[in-house]
Amino acid sequence: MKEAIEQVLKQLEELSVSSQKDVEEARVRFLGKKGCVTALMEQFRTVPAEMKREYGQKLNELKKTVTARIEALKEQAEATAVQLAPKQDLSMPGDPLEPGSRHPVSIVRQEIVDIFRKFGYDVAEGPEIEDDWHVFEALNFPPNHPAREMQDTFFVSTGHLNPLLLRTHTSSVQVRTMESQPLPIRVICPGRVFRNEAISARAHCIFHQVEGLYIDKDVTFADLKQAILLFAREMFGPDTEIRMRPSYFPFTEPSAEVDVSCNICHGKGCNICKGTGWLEIMGCGMVDPNVLEASGIDSKQYSGFAFGMGVERIAMLKWQVNDLRHYFENDMRFLREFTTATEV
Ligand code: DAH
Repeated sequence: MKEAIEQVLKQLEELSVSSQKDVEEARVRFLGKKGCVTALMEQFRTVPAEMKREYGQKLNELKKTVTARIEALKEQAEATAVQLAPKQDLSMPGDPLEPGSRHPVSIVRQEIVDIFRKFGYDVAEGPEIEDDWHVFEALNFPPNHPAREMQDTFFVSTGHLNPLLLRTHTSSVQVRTMESQPLPIRVICPGRVFRNEAISARAHCIFHQVEGLYIDKDVTFADLKQAILLFAREMFGPDTEIRMRPSYFPFTEPSAEVDVSCNICHGKGCNICKGTGWLEIMGCGMVDPNVLEASGIDSKQYSGFAFGMGVERIAMLKWQVNDLRHYFENDMRFLREFTTATEV
């Protein structure tokens, strides 16, 4: 048996293999079920008792040595295989990179912003996580107004006097601007807003608004009407008419809702305007004196108007995409339709 062991060690030493296949063959030859090392292990049974100890050790060592050598050869062969693997063909054409395009909501928001910039408005922004003061209290919402309730508002923290919440409208930026900017103020505030609504074709829990605010001495309702008429004509075409319907918002008095003449049927009545010839685009009004005073503005000297519109709503009217969910799902087939509408 001693000789047999030496024989195996010699064979091992002489072993010269390079491919992974050869290494595997060698492994089977030495360590496989019918391999020479395995055969020696089986022969161990016939070794006389007094020599078992010595040969047991020898055989174990042999198995270790063989296994280690085969392992080393295997690693070597693997490394060589990687080296020899065909290199990437650098002359292959690259993956085509499609240029992205602006999102339809972004396109419309920019259009609204550009129109008001032309009229001399600055852009103001505020935080999406707001406090009760800026979203409700300073905007003259009575303490138990339904808009404050859980079913509308996502609260971030409750329980103290001025809870944190996700803003439900961009009117909060009005307040921040009045608190921090010198008068007169002429700003628009684009931004994302959040309401706890079930998602459907007509409602979403996230959407975008653009808020407008103008405060100066002697600002009147006529100024408001004129600003909105000019905006509507820039946005929907020079023949667009507007009409105002009395409405209610806690932060404006008087308040109105604004409709534009339907730019699809030009007032004749179609399914977009539901046969009325008019499309609702925004809420507006004269800033309530309480709101001015809450932000430290003297309501005897100053007056102003405010308005607020939904960006998705304007986009729907512009492109007749009547399911709000399309604006949030980022389906490439939908987004690609706006590639050509993008101005860089
Ligand atoms: N904040 C209102 C809303 O989210 C929109 C609005 C209406 C804003 C009238 C105004 C306004 O500034 O005067 O529905």
